[in-house]
Amino acid sequence: MTPPIPVIFDCDPGIDDAIALLGAFVAPELDIRAITPVCGNQPLDRTVRNALQICELAGRTEIPVHAGCHRPLCREPIHGQFHGSTGLGNTVLPEPVKRIEATTAVDCLIDHLGRAARGEGAKVTLCCLGPLTNVALALRMAPQIAGGIERIVMMGGAFREPGNRTLTSEFNVLADPHAAGIVFSAGLPMTVLGLDATHQVMLLPEHVARFAEVSGPIARTVAELMAFWDRNDARRYGSRGGPLHDPLVTAWLLRPDLFESRPARVFVEMESPLCLGQTVADWYGKTGEPANADIVTRVDAAGVIDFYLGLMARYGARGAA
Ligand code: RIB
Ligand code: CA
Repeated sequence: MTPPIPVIFDCDPGIDDAIALLGAFVAPELDIRAITPVCGNQPLDRTVRNALQICELAGRTEIPVHAGCHRPLCREPIHGQFHGSTGLGNTVLPEPVKRIEATTAVDCLIDHLGRAARGEGAKVTLCCLGPLTNVALALRMAPQIAGGIERIVMMGGAFREPGNRTLTSEFNVLADPHAAGIVFSAGLPMTVLGLDATHQVMLLPEHVARFAEVSGPIARTVAELMAFWDRNDARRYGSRGGPLHDPLVTAWLLRPDLFESRPARVFVEMESPLCLGQTVADWYGKTGEPANADIVTRVDAAGVIDFYLGLMARYGARGAA
């Protein structure tokens, strides 16, 4: 039996963050060490609250939640536009009983990754579902933690696809381009699921209907979250449905065979008013800089949807409440 993969989810719940977490929570293949919310889709107090509630919903209250950065490193904060006023659409979850940990997200990352870097445990895979502020700050405060990172698997960036928040830029990178610049320059193994990947997996109403048929309250909640997400993008992408962004990180971790990627050197635009947060890929070595990321270029969308339905069915099979 392959040992479970140690992971930390850095996120900004967020509807699709919630779906990504709920998929990961039911996967024994993952050893979720911590959740580190960050300012992104919502202000920090809300992403923290949403993370606590999502843990409670799935009965995963043993996973420590550490509050991260209140704002990006340099730029003014921006927030998501399509997650509803709470960040979880119309889904109302019970008041969280679970409390956040006393130490911050950055302390948590330095602690876990520092121990792994010193050989005191397996390296950790960082699953980044939001702006990279927490990760960048941890790397700046304790550069040695890079040795404890197995890989960064992130949702973010847009390469051949246009941006989803500006003409050029995807939200997670735009929301903290300086943090993204630090992470991409850190020489870490990175798998990047940008809009080029997530726009291949459009969650259509018929997909949402299939999730609604899966038994149990978790699957029902995921279908409800998806239904809210669905109506957001019909006008924007010329088709009904919404792109399945963050859950692709969970799917990649568990079923990397459903994805294809290509190495490239990724640069982040940190100054241009027009193109701030743009991620530019050097696919052919024109800059002479070595590749710093594996960019996911192809996704078996039907396979991902079927796999995620299977994850949700695991809750029913467990007899989750
Ligand atoms: O651009 C999509 C990303 O921005 C997703 O992570 C979504 O949750 C938002 O954070
Ligand atoms: Ca997110």
